[in-house]
Amino acid sequence: MPAIKSVAIIGAGASGAAAASAFAAEKYFDVIRVFERREEPGGTWIYDAVPPKFDLVPGGLPHDIDPPLVIPEVLPATTAPNTQERFSKTPIYDGLTTNVPEIAMSLSDTRFPYGPFVPHWIPKNYIREYFSLHGDDSLLVLNTTVEDISCIHDDSRGAYNRWRLTLRKHDRTRGVDEWWQEKFDAVILANGHYSVPFIPFVTGLPEYLKKFPGRIIHSKSYRTPKVYARKRVLLIGNSASGHDIADQLLKSRDVQHPVYQSRHSRSLWEGDEPPEGLVWKPVIDEYTADGTIVFADGSTLGYEDIDIIIYATGYKPSYPFWNEKANGRALYNYPEGRFQGAFQHTFVGDYPTLGLVGLPRTLTFRSFEYQSIALARLWSGRAAQPLPPIAQQRLWEIQRIKERRQSGKKFHDIEWDTGETDAYLTFLYRLSGLPQLDGTGLTPPILNATTRWAIENIRKYPIIRPTPPRSEHDKVVDGESDWVVVGNWKDSLSFI
Ligand SMILES: Cc1cc2nc3c(=O)[nH]c(=O)nc-3n(C[C@H](O)[C@H](O)[C@H](O)COP(=O)(O)OP(=O)(O)OC[C@H]3O[C@@H](n4cnc5c(N)ncnc54)[C@H](O)[C@@H]3O)c2cc1C
Ligand SMILES: NC(=O)c1ccc[n+]([C@@H]2O[C@H](COP(=O)([O-])OP(=O)(O)OC[C@H]3O[C@@H](n4cnc5c(N)ncnc54)[C@H](OP(=O)(O)O)[C@@H]3O)[C@@H](O)[C@H]2O)c1
Repeated sequence: MPAIKSVAIIGAGASGAAAASAFAAEKYFDVIRVFERREEPGGTWIYDAVPPKFDLVPGGLPHDIDPPLVIPEVLPATTAPNTQERFSKTPIYDGLTTNVPEIAMSLSDTRFPYGPFVPHWIPKNYIREYFSLHGDDSLLVLNTTVEDISCIHDDSRGAYNRWRLTLRKHDRTRGVDEWWQEKFDAVILANGHYSVPFIPFVTGLPEYLKKFPGRIIHSKSYRTPKVYARKRVLLIGNSASGHDIADQLLKSRDVQHPVYQSRHSRSLWEGDEPPEGLVWKPVIDEYTADGTIVFADGSTLGYEDIDIIIYATGYKPSYPFWNEKANGRALYNYPEGRFQGAFQHTFVGDYPTLGLVGLPRTLTFRSFEYQSIALARLWSGRAAQPLPPIAQQRLWEIQRIKERRQSGKKFHDIEWDTGETDAYLTFLYRLSGLPQLDGTGLTPPILNATTRWAIENIRKYPIIRPTPPRSEHDKVVDGESDWVVVGNWKDSLSFI
């Protein structure tokens, strides 16, 4: 492996904080730069009181709604500030608390100040302090968006190519954007995946959006139930955002009840009946020209029945900076919901100088730590174990695609209940191995019995499990194979 001495980290959220700390601790890398488009570290946890406004595109994917910017032909350059939507504001709303017990959510060397579930400013402050505590704040390059990553071909380095980054810093004082380029031996993608909102396509929805502007928002723009005083609300989705926002709307004296909630599947926190004030609806089949909303069971809500519709239907990862032409392929396969060529959700077989932190849906901050330490060790040449050969990495991916197709689970969801999280973290733990005798490098964390107990027993919302399968109705049996999907089974950390 050619020497990797300079590393760019994209993003200063919890993933970027963990990565900066792990790479700095190796004391091996000459240059570590953490590029963050926001004015401060914190990522998702930065609170934007003024909610973002953006066009909603039913079924729209990041390459349609978050395209690359046009880069000045000659660099460096100073231009007028960018006006294209980059989705950099966050979805944090008033009253949001964490949903993972503090002992399991915090990074292993520093606890949150209290717990188990803390208000949103605690993780924000924690991430900022984490950079300073480890002396990594000097690595931060703020207000700076990575706009392009292109591979620099160099036969002497084989697959271990270097990268040219095109960077745009918004200079708020002068009201201009400054553009320049820098080269790095390796790049960590720690850019998060809850920026670009997704709303599913439904017949008539594009026309409804045009006809009734402002009636539909995405949960990314939700801040407080006070905005919906005396309004009749339809909420779509019942995962973490949908469930929590429903809870806020129900507790609010301002919002008109009942609140309607359209559900695709049963969430972990739902019993057989909705709580008082909530009416469950199935998925929406159609929006008709007169503004009627038609649900899958044939029931309807007319134009007069609803004032506001909140889509809490999640997000799609976006990599607008990835130069597909220069790099030869796309990074993310949207129909299949997976980062292509990602081994163990962290390493990229055909791009060994590209690392992923924060990609899978599993224990959040803590998993970022294992991923970061493993990458830092690997690139400093100090990993206790090598990565398997590319062919084996590819086999892992193929087998996972097949297994996930059969089970109906998402490629990057790592379950807790089945022991998958343990196996995943153990893999990274073993690969990393111990630090040097002189203390150089971080020690991969342990996941002790107290932490495991907290994960399994301390809940923001209690889990209500039906006994699967409750009826023939809950079973989906594939005609050609002997496997079944039990419709109501969800991992107890699936909301993370
Ligand atoms: C509403 C909400 C509530 C959540 N609640 C919880 C919870 O209770 N518990 C929990 O464990 N997890 C929760 N999560 C998940 C949360 O996203 C993770 O905990 C974690 O903060 C993700 O960190 P990250 O660094 O990977 O991503 P992010 O926090 O998204 O950070 C990525 C950073 O990269 C920057 N960036 C992106 N693109 C570029 C670019 N091109 N150039 C420069 N910078 C860039 C972004 O500005 C951002 O600062 C929640 C998520 C949301 C949306
Ligand atoms: N700390 C907190 O309390 C808190 C609060 C909010 C968000 N978060 C975090 O934010 C992240 C994103 O969560 P999220 O809830 O926004 O997104 P999400 O978990 O991706 O959930 C998307 C939801 O949309 C539903 N959906 C999709 N298509 C639908 C349709 N056509 N009709 C009805 N429902 C549909 C999904 O149902 P199916 O699952 O059935 O497909 C799911 O309930 C997670 O990390 C979460 O933990 C945390």
